[in-house]
Amino acid sequence: MKIPFVDLGAQYRAHQAELDAAIRGVLETTAFIGGKPVKQFEEAYAKEYGVKHCISCANGTDAIYVVLRMLGIGPGDEVITTAASWISTSETIGQTGALPIFVDVDEFYNIDVAAIERAITPRTRALIPVHLYGQAARMDAIVEIAQRRSLVLIEDCAQAHFATYGGKRVGTFGAAATFSFYPGKNLGAYGDAGAIVTNDDDLAKRCRMYANHGALVKHQHEMEGINSRLDGLQAAVLSAKLPHIHDWTKRRQAVAAEYRERLRDVPGVFLPDIAPNATHVFHLFVVRVPDRDGLRAHLAKLGVETGIHYPTALPFLGAYRERRFEPAQFPRAFRNQGEILSLPMFPEMTSEMIAYVADAIRAFYV
Ligand SMILES: Cc1ncc(COP(=O)(O)O)c(C=O)c1O
Repeated sequence: MKIPFVDLGAQYRAHQAELDAAIRGVLETTAFIGGKPVKQFEEAYAKEYGVKHCISCANGTDAIYVVLRMLGIGPGDEVITTAASWISTSETIGQTGALPIFVDVDEFYNIDVAAIERAITPRTRALIPVHLYGQAARMDAIVEIAQRRSLVLIEDCAQAHFATYGGKRVGTFGAAATFSFYPGKNLGAYGDAGAIVTNDDDLAKRCRMYANHGALVKHQHEMEGINSRLDGLQAAVLSAKLPHIHDWTKRRQAVAAEYRERLRDVPGVFLPDIAPNATHVFHLFVVRVPDRDGLRAHLAKLGVETGIHYPTALPFLGAYRERRFEPAQFPRAFRNQGEILSLPMFPEMTSEMIAYVADAIRAFYV
């Protein structure tokens, strides 16, 4: 059996009529940049998410950059984030001229709250937790630290659409939050797409302006900005998909539960746990295993595609070579990078597929 890591085609086929109609609608009205489809998606996402403002951007990376800039983060500032994320989280800090300060992860792969406190200096201005793999970070402790130490809180929700902590949606705890709608994300466009959400009217206005060449009204540039707009086709695709997100999340959670059940007693396989008070929307199902590369090759031979998120933790990337980080500074992130493996995960996975993957893993170890 061939099991892809994700199957975007299965989702398209299941909703083809709605998606084709959405795309055709944009072609017929030629609303390619901005206009009605974008406005409609922003309004629908803000409403569904329960926030005042959704400002769409060209991608989730720009969304972080725009927020950081509009919060006044820049040269001389330090921004604390997790050692385990996609490079967007830290490269955007660097793009503003600020310095990313990495801290290690906890046993749930999210930022270790005890390590945050130790990383704070007089230059620390902001904190960016990432809800990695779809699981909410420890937001009670993170909010408490941010408030007590007067730090701006920005949540990177690229992998965690609609996850919650203590019953409250991720993305609603700080000044603003950012989303990616990259095709493989839980809510994915058919190209690059991203958004900022916030309840702060003034911040929303400035982000909208900055992402559109510093103008809210055509030709009235109040500042120099950037060109980071969502295109109409992506907005229409996202609007067509949005009504299905909660069903898809439930399916992802059911797939995860079935993986857990089937892999429970396989020796050495460390399964993803759900932290107290958190929900997990399983953008990724990540296990930690001995001989990860051996298992990966074994699965590939049996037609099972896997991923590694991420093979090198941020501090150890070439981009940060000059900072000479040591494994001992980030022991969990360093250990994890050699042991983590992301199994196939998408809402359309069948029990037969899950059983095939689980049996293939069992055969490698038992
Ligand atoms: C944690 C995280 N942050 C930011 C991003 C950036 O999103 P995008 O690829 O839309 O720029 C991604 C996804 O790629 C991500 O996984």
